[in-house]
Amino acid sequence: MASVVFDGASRIYPGTTAPAVDKLNLTVNDGEFLVLVGPSGCGKSTSLRMLAGLEEIDGGRILIGDRDVTNVAPKDRDIAMVFQSYALYPHMTVAENMGFALKIAGTPKEERDRRVLEAAKLLDLEPYLERKPKALSGGQRQRVAMGRAIVREPQVFLMDEPLSNLDAKLRVATRTQIAALQRRLGITTVYVTHDQVEAMTMGDRVAVLKDGLLQQVDTPRNLYDNPANAFVAGFIGSPAMNLLIAPVEGGKAKLGDLAIDVPAAAGSSVTVGVRPEGFTPSSKGFHVLVEVVEELGSDAFVYGKPADASVKFANASDEGAQVIVRWDPKNPPKPGDTITVEAVKGAVHLFNSTTGERI
Ligand SMILES: Nc1ncnc2c1ncn2[C@@H]1O[C@H](COP(=O)(O)OP(=O)(O)OP(=O)(O)O)[C@@H](O)[C@H]1O
Ligand SMILES: [Mg+2]
Repeated sequence: MASVVFDGASRIYPGTTAPAVDKLNLTVNDGEFLVLVGPSGCGKSTSLRMLAGLEEIDGGRILIGDRDVTNVAPKDRDIAMVFQSYALYPHMTVAENMGFALKIAGTPKEERDRRVLEAAKLLDLEPYLERKPKALSGGQRQRVAMGRAIVREPQVFLMDEPLSNLDAKLRVATRTQIAALQRRLGITTVYVTHDQVEAMTMGDRVAVLKDGLLQQVDTPRNLYDNPANAFVAGFIGSPAMNLLIAPVEGGKAKLGDLAIDVPAAAGSSVTVGVRPEGFTPSSKGFHVLVEVVEELGSDAFVYGKPADASVKFANASDEGAQVIVRWDPKNPPKPGDTITVEAVKGAVHLFNSTTGERI
């Protein structure tokens, strides 16, 4: 086992000017499950490929344990990678697929068989060892791909969206299995996904990337409770946090009749962040014109527009933006109604409306 350190690591692809990964500083602790998450193109796969040695590094260093592997060949890094397209060899059985890397490495047959059987037991694949991949379900194939990585007993697992070929239900089941398996094996794991729910449910810690820049790395709980900036606030959580630009008058941000204390340095406007569950019905406060009500049984979510024109959405490019309020499912409002809400104590996040940084 080993820790992983990205020490100011950058990747600038030939023919481009903006770094795909920009001076990444990130430490993954020994035995930790770290998830890299962010929107498409933010540099997740590039970061993972840099760690695997599949991508050149244009600045900084990468360490595995206390070894600087920046210039070490992929095969000598003692890592195993599971990709999105897990491409099993169709002409080989499950057992042969799982043992193939060991065979290439010259591991004696007896030890190979032992390690394959051990991994198959862990992954509930024992009954399928003699089958060919085409006779397996999607989830079973995915487990064979995991098995191929496990039998190598690497210092570090790298996984790049390994569940994206599975249907939604199987993905939920498999993510629980992978997280449990990793905890049992205790092998340091870097896991890439664009799905923030997957990130939050699987990771010991989650690193959020945007445009090649690390935004924040923390436990799921802390990311949710204390987002470092408006981007992380809006990206983590489903339904998303409401991010509204409110005018500031006399030290108070005004969301309709709701007045929120802000520090003097905030300027003439501020981005107010409140999660859907952070609003509660009130006789006086922020008025929302109801457009849609989503009833989920356990919860209802009310979608609408601010009734007060001085309140704008922080993401101005998002034309369809709506305020989202969690509501008592027994008593939902109707489209066309106006609801009045206030913010629950402690539920307000404030961000600089220019830089997005937390205030
Ligand atoms: N070989 C390449 N040459 C030039 N640019 C590249 C290359 N590979 C990736 N990029 C660019 O680098 C940036 C980061 O790409 P990367 O594949 O790391 O994103 P990602 O976060 O994994 O996205 P996704 O969620 O879509 O897989 C993107 O802007 C992409 O267009
Ligand atoms: Mg990718």
